[in-house]
Amino acid sequence: MKNTKSHKTEHPPPAPVILRLINGQRKFPLHNFIFSAAFFAFGLLSGLGVGLYLSNISFTFQLSQFSISKSAAAGASPVLAVQQSTGPWHEMDDGELMWRASMVPRVSEFPFRRVPKVAFMFLTVGPLPLAPLWELFFRGGDEGLYTIYIHSLPSYVNATSDFAADSVFYGRRIPSKGKSTMVAAERRLLANALLDFSNERFILLSESCIPLYNFTTIYTHLITSTKSHVEVFDQLGPVGRGRYSPAMQPTIKPAHWRKGSQWFEMDRRLAVQVVSDRTYFPLFERLCNGSCYGDEHYLPTMVNARFGGWNSNRTLTWAEWSVRGPHPRSFWRPDVTVGFLEGLRDGGRMCGEYGRNVGGAAGGGIGVHYYHNVTGGGDGGSSSSVCFLFARKFRPHSLSRLLRFAPGVMQF
Ligand SMILES: *[C@@H]1O[C@H](CO)[C@@H](O)[C@H](O)[C@H]1NC(C)=O
Ligand SMILES: *[C@@H]1O[C@H](CO)[C@@H](O)[C@H](O)[C@H]1NC(C)=O
Ligand SMILES: *[C@@H]1O[C@H](CO)[C@@H](O)[C@H](O)[C@H]1NC(C)=O
Ligand SMILES: *[C@@H]1O[C@H](CO)[C@@H](O)[C@H](O)[C@H]1NC(C)=O
Ligand SMILES: *[C@@H]1O[C@H](CO)[C@@H](O)[C@H](O)[C@H]1NC(C)=O
Repeated sequence: MKNTKSHKTEHPPPAPVILRLINGQRKFPLHNFIFSAAFFAFGLLSGLGVGLYLSNISFTFQLSQFSISKSAAAGASPVLAVQQSTGPWHEMDDGELMWRASMVPRVSEFPFRRVPKVAFMFLTVGPLPLAPLWELFFRGGDEGLYTIYIHSLPSYVNATSDFAADSVFYGRRIPSKGKSTMVAAERRLLANALLDFSNERFILLSESCIPLYNFTTIYTHLITSTKSHVEVFDQLGPVGRGRYSPAMQPTIKPAHWRKGSQWFEMDRRLAVQVVSDRTYFPLFERLCNGSCYGDEHYLPTMVNARFGGWNSNRTLTWAEWSVRGPHPRSFWRPDVTVGFLEGLRDGGRMCGEYGRNVGGAAGGGIGVHYYHNVTGGGDGGSSSSVCFLFARKFRPHSLSRLLRFAPGVMQF
């Protein structure tokens, strides 16, 4: 089933001409200049009227840029639904994107009925082999309660043609040009998702992640959670503290240095801090190279140093670290059984990850149990018996079994 949709069809340029008049002077095509001049002359002649007219236009621009109009589906005033959202595609470079995403309204009441949404951000190398499982998951949810963003490597050849028009993933790719480090891609995903003012929680997922509960359960848990979920731990030895560079001083002191899984979940206030960070990110880009992996240290270190009180310090995405080496275990088709999946959903026990090599007690030996006491951990979620909402790493061939067991075990 070859999909022949062109790049243009999946990613229509979001900006109507009128928007570019206000917003895109730098990249302004010459032929539009005449139109612009005529428009301006008309404005001058209109006297007082022009002020009102322009303010209307910029109002429209705000709406389309931040896709407030999308929330019309969730019951917002129809007056606000001036333009339909055109999806997450845009022509902004990272600098402009981060700047827009860093904006925070000073008026805390929204002029429309804001239904908080969860942004599911997929960071992938190429395709999304478990997409059919996620389709099933999202179909069980309310489309006014989530948004999807996909960032794949710029080199991925099928990026514009791998989802059919009726897929929840269709047209949800964001531009991936610019710096290609993991951290740059994560910040880019966050920034794109922040442009939608309705997004309240931001979850980073990979192509090998699966949901462990149905949409309703996951949505409720995240929306009622009072803390972000960025894993933060202090690890002794060369793959933990050993990756710290003294050149990071005085901004990052050795006591700030932390490690954690890159698969985070965070609330809006922390997401805004991450995209507006101009202190830690450049330092990591410059000094966390070679055998230092920014995606394992940047967020844990920054959050620990500056926003520790906002964080639960644990990840919501389960992985098994019992195998020796830098990567957690992968799960193949025969591994996926009803018992295995039920075990991952069992919140009755302490939330543990086996094999995490955490500093302190053992001082660097592999195979240390790493537990979080969720009931006593101040997680703030409504269903505190839930340890993990997602799990990885599932191989593409496990899909058939996941699809078979999902309705019975995960209830979607
Ligand atoms: C791209 O799509 C073609 C046709 O569906 C497929 O044969 C090929 O494996 C895909 N390439 C990647 C990298 O997914
Ligand atoms: C979702 O799962 C929960 C248990 O986690 C269950 O109680 C609920 O009925 C399910 N909701 C739907 C819509 O299937
Ligand atoms: C990392 O960056 C530092 C400072 O720019 C440089 O001196 C060092 O050679 C780099 N290391 C690697 C392995 O690239
Ligand atoms: C998480 O760690 C920070 C320090 O980085 C600490 O201030 C905070 O209390 C911890 N959060 C929980 C829920 O234990
Ligand atoms: C977990 O937290 C609860 C509540 O703070 C506490 O009573 C219990 O002893 C803790 N369990 C462990 C194993 O730390």
